[in-house]
Amino acid sequence: MAPASPTPVAANDRGFSLVRDGQGRLGLHAGHHVRVGDVVADWLGPEQLRRLSGGKKQLLARAVGIGKRTPLSVLDATGGLGRDAHVMAHLGATVTVCERQPLIFALLQDAWTRLELVDDRCASRLCLQAADAHSVLRDDLTWDVVYLDPMYPGRDKTALPGKEMQFFRELTEGDADAGSLLALARARARWRVVVKRPLSAPPLADQAPDQSLRGTQARFDLYLVPPPKETP
Ligand SMILES: C[S@@+](CC[C@H](N)C(=O)[O-])C[C@H]1O[C@@H](n2cnc3c(N)ncnc32)[C@H](O)[C@@H]1O
Repeated sequence: MAPASPTPVAANDRGFSLVRDGQGRLGLHAGHHVRVGDVVADWLGPEQLRRLSGGKKQLLARAVGIGKRTPLSVLDATGGLGRDAHVMAHLGATVTVCERQPLIFALLQDAWTRLELVDDRCASRLCLQAADAHSVLRDDLTWDVVYLDPMYPGRDKTALPGKEMQFFRELTEGDADAGSLLALARARARWRVVVKRPLSAPPLADQAPDQSLRGTQARFDLYLVPPPKETP
């Protein structure tokens, strides 16, 4: 039998729509990219399982400091498809995830709903917010870590493979205001700000980090927050 054709559930004015596939997963479909498949936030697929299997030794976990502080609260200010947020939550962090692009946020919610069916403890450590991180970071809240992974306008091989990169660039217009997140993040992080960058990219907002962890595809720039001075 031929697979059921995807059911459109929402659309926006840039040729993108949300569709349900045969497994009930929400996908981002681009009518103007005829040969490109839909983008799904898949936290249960083999690629994400491979990332989870990297455990606390993987670069992301070391950059964020998983295992060094318990409990650990993280604001993932640039949620995207939530893969990094899911890894952090799987490893025990409590993660607030911000995403301002409504169609991408819908994919995140769908991934969360499917995660909750198989691992409700991990899902309970993830709190999704459809919001611009600038306004969230202007609230009076603090987190141990603020994590930033904005799109990079140049060639970016950090996280997103071809079609996702293409879709995200069109939908997000390249996160051109990302630099202004750094100062806000540094004011709200109690321990550190972590910024994921392509290996050859300059640091975000041209602010030199205190430390960098370099992998084969990306580096993590760390901005450390000095501990508060003890009062005599
Ligand atoms: C490169 S993707 C993040 C990928 C993500 N780390 C992952 O693991 O899937 C960047 C995302 O950040 C979002 N973004 C950028 N600036 C933002 C802001 N100020 N507030 C909320 N979301 C933002 C974009 O809409 C985009 O979805």
